[in-house]
Amino acid sequence: MKALVLSGGSGTRLRPFTYSMPKQLMPIANRPVLEHVLENIRALGVSEVAVVVGDRAPEIAAVLGDGARLGLRLTYIRQEQPLGLAHCVKIAREFLGDDDFVMYLGDNMLPQGVEEMAREFTEHRPTAQLVVQRVADPRAFGVAEVAPDGRVTRLVEKPEQPRSDLALTGVYFFTPVIHQAIDKITPSARGELEITDALQWLVSYGATVRAREYTGYWKDTGRAEDVLDCNRELLRGVERSVAGLVDDDSVLTGPVVVEPGARVIRSRIVGPAIVGAGSQVVDSHVGPHTSIGRDCRLHGTAVEDSIVLDGASVIRVPALRGSLIGRSAAVSGADGGTVHHRLVVGDHTQVEVAA
Ligand code: DAU
Repeated sequence: MKALVLSGGSGTRLRPFTYSMPKQLMPIANRPVLEHVLENIRALGVSEVAVVVGDRAPEIAAVLGDGARLGLRLTYIRQEQPLGLAHCVKIAREFLGDDDFVMYLGDNMLPQGVEEMAREFTEHRPTAQLVVQRVADPRAFGVAEVAPDGRVTRLVEKPEQPRSDLALTGVYFFTPVIHQAIDKITPSARGELEITDALQWLVSYGATVRAREYTGYWKDTGRAEDVLDCNRELLRGVERSVAGLVDDDSVLTGPVVVEPGARVIRSRIVGPAIVGAGSQVVDSHVGPHTSIGRDCRLHGTAVEDSIVLDGASVIRVPALRGSLIGRSAAVSGADGGTVHHRLVVGDHTQVEVAA
């Protein structure tokens, strides 16, 4: 089996971050979403992976390289415009050949992995196998109607009146028959070649499309709140490891990671939390549920339930919560005060808050 990871698109919902970085590189527990995705693919025993990229290709290639670091062989396929998920399969036709493949959306996090679904797919070999999850409001997703025996009977992309609460997650297992279906469909109302339409085409022509319910944690990391929620979820799994320097006046409580070259001085870190390589935390309180990237500076600051991206500085901010601070952003406050602030700040932005 091969893998196709979709990492093009424009990511407008994660602005301002996506002005300067593709959403698939957003760090969750200090690792880009795409690395988590590729790790799940490697866990399936798949090593040949094509990554579909748009105009953010150089940044993605700079992070993932040829994949050797992750135990994979990566090929990049350029998509000039985000013309739909099925369009991605179309342009990857040569890479995919006549092999089965797993298609994985590069912004989807399923930390419990999809091995069970892959096993079921290879055992029963339906024409396609979907991974679905029950959601309260399925209108933002592809929605599947599924018979009690697991066969999909109908699929609709983002229906206004969903007839089922089973949303398609971003993981699909395909046999090469999918290429025939994609050749038959036309662009949807939003101008995209929808994989959901290709799947519905298969269902209409009597092919077996199966769905398997995934009950673990799932997030499409399209919005800032989703990124923070996902960070909380992944940090739950960290174990204490201290490679950087922690001085005698600092206290670490619970699962705290202090990466190499990081310095924690006169500070309190409450896990789960990570302080990235080369970062300085001085006279500060960090955590819980907080990831500090590489080479950040926190001075006289209290930050919880937040992500601070690489190179950012947060100085004299006494109560930061639920915040996402972009790369090389500078946030500073005057002395005193106990008001809470909530910030979603883009890369290279400068913010001063009353403190
Ligand atoms: O997250 C699950 C949902 O993903 C499914 O329930 C839907 O059925 C499916 O259509 C998809 O919906 P979204 O509207 O959330 O897809 P989005 O445009 O966010 O694209 C998903 C990923 O694929 C993202 O990493 C960008 C990439 N992509 C998207 C398009 C349209 C491409 O690489 N090229 C494209 O042309």
